[in-house]
Amino acid sequence: MTTPKTPAEIGGMGHSVKRKEDPRFLRGQGTYVDDIVLPDMLYLDIVRSPYAHAAITNIDTSKALAIPGVLAVITGKDLAAYNLHWMPTLMSDTQMVLPVEKVMYQAQEVAAVLATERYIAADGADAVEIDYDPLPVLIDPKKALLPDAPVLRTDKPDKKDNHIWHWEWGDRAATDQAFRDAEVTVKEDIYIPRIHVSSIETCGCVAHFDKVRGKLTVWMTTQAPHAIRTVFALVAGHVGLAEHKIQIISPDIGGGFGGKVPVYPGYVIAVAASVLTGKPVKWIEDRMENIQADSFARDYHMTAELAGKKDGRLTALRIKTIADHGYTDAAANPSKFPAGLFHICTGSYDLKAAHVEVDGAYTNKPPGGIAYRCSFRVTEAVHAIERMADLMAHEIGMDAAEFRMKNFIKPEQFPYKSALGWEYDSGDYAAALRKAMDNLGYEELRKEQVEKRKRGELMGIGISSFTEIVGAGPSKHFDILGLKMFDSAEIRIHPTGKAIARFGTKSQGQGHETTYAQIVAEELGIPVDDVAVEEGDTDTAPYGLGTYASRSTPTAGAAGAIAARKIRDKAKKIAAYLLEAHEDDLEWEPGKFFVKGSPDRAKTIQDIALAAYTNHPQGMEAGLEAVSYYDPPNLTYPFGSYICVVDIDKGTGEVKVRRFMAVDDCGNIINPMIVEGQIHGGLTMGLGPALYEEIQYDDSGNILQGSFMNYLLPTAVETPNWETDKTCTPSPHHPLGAKGVGESATVGAPAAIVNAVVDALWHLGVRHIDIPITPPKVWKLLRDNGVTE
Ligand code: CDP
Repeated sequence: MTTPKTPAEIGGMGHSVKRKEDPRFLRGQGTYVDDIVLPDMLYLDIVRSPYAHAAITNIDTSKALAIPGVLAVITGKDLAAYNLHWMPTLMSDTQMVLPVEKVMYQAQEVAAVLATERYIAADGADAVEIDYDPLPVLIDPKKALLPDAPVLRTDKPDKKDNHIWHWEWGDRAATDQAFRDAEVTVKEDIYIPRIHVSSIETCGCVAHFDKVRGKLTVWMTTQAPHAIRTVFALVAGHVGLAEHKIQIISPDIGGGFGGKVPVYPGYVIAVAASVLTGKPVKWIEDRMENIQADSFARDYHMTAELAGKKDGRLTALRIKTIADHGYTDAAANPSKFPAGLFHICTGSYDLKAAHVEVDGAYTNKPPGGIAYRCSFRVTEAVHAIERMADLMAHEIGMDAAEFRMKNFIKPEQFPYKSALGWEYDSGDYAAALRKAMDNLGYEELRKEQVEKRKRGELMGIGISSFTEIVGAGPSKHFDILGLKMFDSAEIRIHPTGKAIARFGTKSQGQGHETTYAQIVAEELGIPVDDVAVEEGDTDTAPYGLGTYASRSTPTAGAAGAIAARKIRDKAKKIAAYLLEAHEDDLEWEPGKFFVKGSPDRAKTIQDIALAAYTNHPQGMEAGLEAVSYYDPPNLTYPFGSYICVVDIDKGTGEVKVRRFMAVDDCGNIINPMIVEGQIHGGLTMGLGPALYEEIQYDDSGNILQGSFMNYLLPTAVETPNWETDKTCTPSPHHPLGAKGVGESATVGAPAAIVNAVVDALWHLGVRHIDIPITPPKVWKLLRDNGVTE
């Protein structure tokens, strides 16, 4: 969609409407969880384990309890009395709220201190004395899966190893045959390390159990408030917390990126403490707790193989993966897919056969496997296929762009059924890559590279032509803990023509208050300024599964369009009544119905809204509102082609991103300015893991990057000048033709950067470098090849 259908005063789709939420954020007037202050509020702080695996032999709370203002020290035994010391994870595994027997990772919650002030709670936490008996530690998932490895989950009586699950997809026999028939094969071990979302706001909550009304209200940093309400009711129903007596409010959120989907023990302990005391209890993590104990992302050990012909035609893909889940599988994947949507790994290429296997492993690390700005393992899938495509192109001596052009799924093949069972909705991959190449002057850059190589300079060009898969449901395949993955919108038009629209999703900075209002403006012609958007309060918003994996536009955005269309249908009946015309004789243009051929005989949506409450046809229900629970018929498949140009410093091994051209396609765009912002932020979140970010542990399970002193996030200084452009291939099944976009750049960028670095070093024999590509790693390669300065 290029030209907006609505005028700028209405501000429907395609207008770069300034963000309605920004005035409060820019003035520091947002309401985050830590801004909630209630009378008589108590504070919780958590005592954490210094050991990665150890039996708890004693907890002495006496010194802590002696501190004035410390009211209680809560231990696993206290929670066990209510059977609340364990809780289910979103992947139907079990996770300790507080341990009774042993700890399983460094920084695990061991006890909680309740006090009248936050700093007193922290002093109390320091004063709790815990005796541990260290146990053998397993950090490497490959070692954890060996037959003689000590079994970590001794709480599960039948568990005899550290293997969580085996999952495979695709046609193994056909894939093996294709590999036997192949003229060329390439194989590589690719590790995507453990990283952390590191959102600006850490996690926390204020839990308030009103004993008189029997109602629990929890303000919490959650991306999925309704699902959390249901989980709370299921887990704590036996202690009297019924779902109609639980209200979850997710206020302004300072970045979620998947890290605010899981239920963390701190939430549960705060709720338990409030229920027991009848007072509000606040728990807010500090930065180090957040990075050390909250859910991680990635940690995939992949062995990938590609098969093809000497002319460059790809035939088959085979990937085996070990997924390190820490001590419990607390990923937030759809139930049917323990490895998320990893089987999108055939990417943008027309492959006839593919087979993937993933094995989950327990280790002594924090739990997780969350979808960090990623549709459930799509980043891992894109990294694998885009690295392998580059490897194959280099191996057969074909230009990486030409190789991709040869193997892309062609526009006429859509809807395209992939070898791993997905039905891609629409795409034009060659157009996006061509645009990126033209914008950048690709052919000229290749010539420059040849010249530079002659002079001994290290310059590389890397491409990533990724395909995404976002917008879970459809509910027939997608659920989390049995809750089907639809999403919802409810729109009410007030008598004066203004509107309130509520959604089952929850923005964490993406700008939903603006873009959802634009959807209502597009469909009803009500100016965007006249539409208030609300999300995140389970007492008022319709039930939805929340915001993660770029699902908001494909699901709740679609629900908004459908609900608005229901309203328009009713508005047409009212207009016909007011104009004394037959419905079939009316035409719609944004904001009004008019009689065909007589544009002056018209009723605006505002006239109609007033009539809906003051002068509606007899026999028709008064009011103008509608709700939609939208179950998408398919996912949406946004895509893009990114080209990265790097120069490598031979003295230090530092990689400098000189140019980065990102051409994205998310179908029809609601707000071009917001989409560009999503891409800019996403690219920087792709640069981080590519060059800087990694969480590692030593053999004793000590975290090596447990603070921002050594977990390196890119700042504005490291961030290059992102160059962006777009193509537009609408989704044929989404009511607005839109696809999700929030995560595309994070998913697509790392492979482009690695491919550029390997391209710069290929002539030295370098075939692959695991991310993050740090200067010491590159410098060592240069030194080994005798090219350091
Ligand atoms: O679920 P999440 O909001 O993170 O991702 P999304 O649905 O991809 O949307 C991210 C932001 O981009 C939202 O404000 C969307 O409304 C906006 N967007 C857009 O303007 N046009 C699109 N085709 C897709 C998203």
